[in-house]
Amino acid sequence: MAVGEQGGAAVAALWLAAAVAAVGAVVLFVVDAGVRRLHGWYREAALGEERRARLPPGEMGWPVVGAMWAFLRAFKSGKPDAFIASFVRRFGRTGVYRTFMFSSPTILLTTPEACKQVLMDDDGFVTGWPKATVALIGPKSFVAMPYDEHRRLRKLTAAPINGFDALTSYLPFIDRTVTSSLRAWADECADGGGEVAFLTELRRMTFKIIVQIFLGGADDATMRALERSYTDLNYGMRAMAINLPGFAYHRALGARRRLVAVLQGVLDGRRAATAKGFTRSSSVDMMDRLIEAEDEHGRRLEDDEIIDILIMYLNAGHESSGHITMWATVFLQENPEIFEKAKAEQEAIMRSIPPTQTGLTLRDFRKMEYLSQVIDETLRFVNISFVSFRQATKDVFVNGYLIPKGWKVQLWYRSVHIDPQVYPDPKKFNPSRWEVGHSPRAGTFLPFGLGARLCPGNDLAKLEISVFLHHFLLGYRLKRTNPNCRVRFLPHPRPVDNCLAKITRVSDEY
Ligand code: HEM
Repeated sequence: MAVGEQGGAAVAALWLAAAVAAVGAVVLFVVDAGVRRLHGWYREAALGEERRARLPPGEMGWPVVGAMWAFLRAFKSGKPDAFIASFVRRFGRTGVYRTFMFSSPTILLTTPEACKQVLMDDDGFVTGWPKATVALIGPKSFVAMPYDEHRRLRKLTAAPINGFDALTSYLPFIDRTVTSSLRAWADECADGGGEVAFLTELRRMTFKIIVQIFLGGADDATMRALERSYTDLNYGMRAMAINLPGFAYHRALGARRRLVAVLQGVLDGRRAATAKGFTRSSSVDMMDRLIEAEDEHGRRLEDDEIIDILIMYLNAGHESSGHITMWATVFLQENPEIFEKAKAEQEAIMRSIPPTQTGLTLRDFRKMEYLSQVIDETLRFVNISFVSFRQATKDVFVNGYLIPKGWKVQLWYRSVHIDPQVYPDPKKFNPSRWEVGHSPRAGTFLPFGLGARLCPGNDLAKLEISVFLHHFLLGYRLKRTNPNCRVRFLPHPRPVDNCLAKITRVSDEY
């Protein structure tokens, strides 16, 4: 074959390949659009024409996965805000979108007003966590409890955690735990130039505190067993619910079984001791309260109810506090001006304490205005609980759009906290935006949620974090081994090295 003919054949082959690719792309596009349309029609047809027309903008995506791939892709690629941004780009800034996630038709809410409306409407919405999450936290915990039962058990358990007297009684233990932890880490780093996984250690520390409050403490073996299981439980919490060996969700279910076994053992021990007439020397803890609790008909809680409530509290009570403490410390250390201002406040408070007083009181902590701003800014900036779940019990209109009865609702606290219309320059860590006198508009600051399900541990969490930062600012410094370490956003934002760092003692008083 002549050279010219060879060239002609190659060009023809290229054209053919391009034509096949173009036809393939068109077919794929048509199939993709068709499947999405069909899925949308299948999910929405039962609503009828009139209600369908009132739905917010959005789309159901592919069957089974819906928007899950997009959600996981955004979070796993380190760009969590890309997920909601894609809805805004495609459907406008309506703040209300429809989609399909966690196997359910779902409405996403991203503005303060929309979130507030839903959070305050106990008649129109109940809790709506995905089934897979409920299976992990516990079907008899708050995440799946009927309204009246939730109110009763919340009242019983929340007051002993958050009130002034309760916090005052926990303060000495928190203080001792924080100071001994910091000392131990600094010692570990001093000898032979060691390092600590700061986040792992903080989670251990906050776990010790919550176990003391809920179980009156635990022996070392029980603590380790609980701690390990909670790590696995958490990693499975926002993963795809694939119950097959090797998947995070499968490991999390195993962890839940181990947690149930450990707590059942503690509960059996308590009941056996009571049956033998032993009275416990330590003060009443949450397990005692739950064992003793009776409803108006004299009914007591079953073991599985007590265990599910404890699994929920022990988890909620240490993960978030540990993470926020880590990020607040990192931000302080990375911002010398903020650090110095926060330290100066602590020094002034120390000078104001009468010599007769030993240790700080709750009132002293309430005087720490700037530290409180640092913590609020960390809560806003980090978005540890970036989303919350509800389900509509009737048709409700939000921003003029229909949320149909039975549909799931996701409240995107993260979007509220990074909205430049609410927080100018939102990607800047700036505690001064919380300066005294500034009170956020209702619904614009939701790190602990709002309404009937507002976090019952919010004051305890802030106290723990404040105690830690108080001692850290006055006596220690942190040097990260990998300051530019990649951040993983699921289940919570954390550096992948768990904040490997050197902790150094800088004051003789510590
Ligand atoms: C910085 C730390 C913490 C953060 C950011 C946080 C955040 C939250 C948020 C956003 C909710 C509401 C979820 C919703 O809207 O459905 C919540 C609920 C809850 N939190 Fe926390 N929390 C923290 C610490 C704690 C602590 C220390 C405890 C326990 C002592 C705790 C126990 C709970 C419980 C039991 C619920 C469920 C409340 C209910 O459904 O009635 N949390 N938390």
